[in-house]
Amino acid sequence: MTLPGDKSISHRAILFAALADGESVIDNVLVSGVTEAMLRALTALGVPWQLDGTRLTVQGGGLHGLQSPSAPIDCGNSATTIRLLAGVLAGAGVTAVLDGSPGLRRRPMRRVVAPLQQMGVALTAVDGCAPLTLAVGKRPLQALTYTLPVASAQVKSCLLLAALAAAGPTTLTEPGPSRDHTERMLRQMGVQVEEGAGQEAAQERWVRLYPPETALRPLQITIPGDMSSAAFLLVAALLTPGSLVTLAGVGLNPTRTGLLDALRSMGADIAISNEQEMAGEPMGDITLRAGELHGTEIGGDLVVRMIDEFPAFAVAAALAEGQTTVRDALELRHKESDRITMLCQELQAVGADVTETADGFVIYGKPLLTGGTINPHRDHRLAMSLAVAGLRSVNGITVQGAEIINESFPSFAQNLSELGAAISV
Ligand code: S3P
Repeated sequence: MTLPGDKSISHRAILFAALADGESVIDNVLVSGVTEAMLRALTALGVPWQLDGTRLTVQGGGLHGLQSPSAPIDCGNSATTIRLLAGVLAGAGVTAVLDGSPGLRRRPMRRVVAPLQQMGVALTAVDGCAPLTLAVGKRPLQALTYTLPVASAQVKSCLLLAALAAAGPTTLTEPGPSRDHTERMLRQMGVQVEEGAGQEAAQERWVRLYPPETALRPLQITIPGDMSSAAFLLVAALLTPGSLVTLAGVGLNPTRTGLLDALRSMGADIAISNEQEMAGEPMGDITLRAGELHGTEIGGDLVVRMIDEFPAFAVAAALAEGQTTVRDALELRHKESDRITMLCQELQAVGADVTETADGFVIYGKPLLTGGTINPHRDHRLAMSLAVAGLRSVNGITVQGAEIINESFPSFAQNLSELGAAISV
């Protein structure tokens, strides 16, 4: 099976194409709720684009080609859209208001507002949350040397994008290896971006961006399949006796493959083949065979390498033999829902043995779950992981408000059903 394009890479390709000089062609772009929010933003900023199936063409007008929008930009439920846009608009010197759904308005924005203000950006939030208001401030922006308090690709990307318009090189240090799609894509477009291991702690990383002296090259890329969508199908296959599934052309960027390491540490039989590189991103086929899983321990830098995969992972753990412990995962509380409390609550509701901790959870696996009806709390990944849990439940699982799945993986139910799952919408 092949999967829709990676959400993180799609977001970046759409937005960065708008900053390039000329026409970009992006194949296998993810068409879903959150990427539609980014496309709406391009329209609001006066950037022409055209979507033909999953081929997106964008007419980029260069780093200074964005128009100030006449109304607030609606970023929907997409934190990537609002945080990356804040960086781009800060760099472009565009006046704008960035807003979104009630869920998005609850997400923390101080983490981008404070360092952008340090760069001289005239930006305000409301109690550290959206709406964000950008006014025209001093130009050019000040170069920044900054240590991120938590590993976050959205914060890092926001600041790197603003740094395109800074007076000198910007250096960011992160406590762990967050996804590096921005760095890879900007390099493809001709921007000098360096990186290396930090000195203070084993997992620390630094990245330095030099403001470009020439226009950004347009993109001609095919986006690999989304590892974070693959996660649900991989866990479904692992938990269904007799399954043998190959997911072809999935992104295998090492900052995104933590789930594969976690599942292997539980005894999963996973093989990678056809490895290749596509526009600076590694990709390949993942073949997985169902089998017995045992409990494991997750913590440290593995957490950031599988930050979006904990809902799927927890379902695997709930059906494994023995105890699984997750720690160092406080960031999960700041996702589309509080993914520690809500995940534990909803897994308990279908019969799993889960205990919430301050920065993670402890799960005792069972052979089968009871099942029931669950509330995904408008969190697409909770909805999909609990649907997958239904495959190993006595009574089946009904996910209310399942339309939230369209935010990241509209073909989820269809793909799962093509693999043989009994799922209806
Ligand atoms: C993303 C980064 C992660 C991730 C999100 C997408 C990105 O968020 O959870 O789904 O595309 O940069 P944080 O950077 O807030 O950890």
